[in-house]
Amino acid sequence: MSEATKTRRLRFEIFRYNPQDPASKPHVEHFELDETPYMSLFLALNQIREHDDPSLQFDFACRSAVCGSCGMMVNGRPALACRTQTSDLPTVIRLYPLPVFKLIGDLSVDTGSWFRALAEHVEGWVHERALFDENAPEERMNDDVAQAIYAADRCIECGCCIAACGVANVNGDFAGPAGLNRVARFMLDPRDRREDADWFDIVANEDGVFGCLGMMACHDVCPKELPLLEVYGFLRRKMLAAGLGVGTAARSG
Ligand code: SF4
Ligand code: FES
Repeated sequence: MSEATKTRRLRFEIFRYNPQDPASKPHVEHFELDETPYMSLFLALNQIREHDDPSLQFDFACRSAVCGSCGMMVNGRPALACRTQTSDLPTVIRLYPLPVFKLIGDLSVDTGSWFRALAEHVEGWVHERALFDENAPEERMNDDVAQAIYAADRCIECGCCIAACGVANVNGDFAGPAGLNRVARFMLDPRDRREDADWFDIVANEDGVFGCLGMMACHDVCPKELPLLEVYGFLRRKMLAAGLGVGTAARSG
């Protein structure tokens, strides 16, 4: 077998801790396996669970970057395990749970509660301008606005951007990139009756868009490549205009 096709032996260093078990202490365990072609971290972790330790906790549902449940720290960087190929990593692979979120156990964290609290805080649903009338003609939406809303809705709430964010790591009240993306989505929506000024108390402070220090790690790690840099720019312009009492009716960036 040539050097180029030689099977790599992968060494996994995996964080282990079960907060439900008083006897459990945070530590790292090592596992080894032979890399196979097109091996994702999802496959590798399943192999470890099947052959080495059935108690290893991690989350997966869709295996195709859609459900957002498999975010974890991969060699120090937040990533979706289902779409990370081991061939893109060195032979030593260090896996830790995403910070910021409540640890369920090992590599599994509770992103759901975080995103639910965020949605309740920003009231992340359409506040209708008028009651729904099933007999009224369908209202047209501007194509560009519809595309912008669609783009924001591509967030899968994986939490990678929150884990990568230095501010979210030290300020538990910071809405974070995904939270501010959610706000922008409803600010753009012409069906929502909230004007820019109505968002001011939620967004125009240190727990909102002005808490961002501009490191933009969120933009680098988002697996859906959401334009988070542009989202921050959009919200800053909107909040500055709302603070000055101008342009509150305008909805486009
Ligand atoms: Fe994940 Fe990107 Fe949504 Fe953040 S903005 S939660 S990184 S999909
Ligand atoms: Fe659904 Fe990875 S398993 S995003």
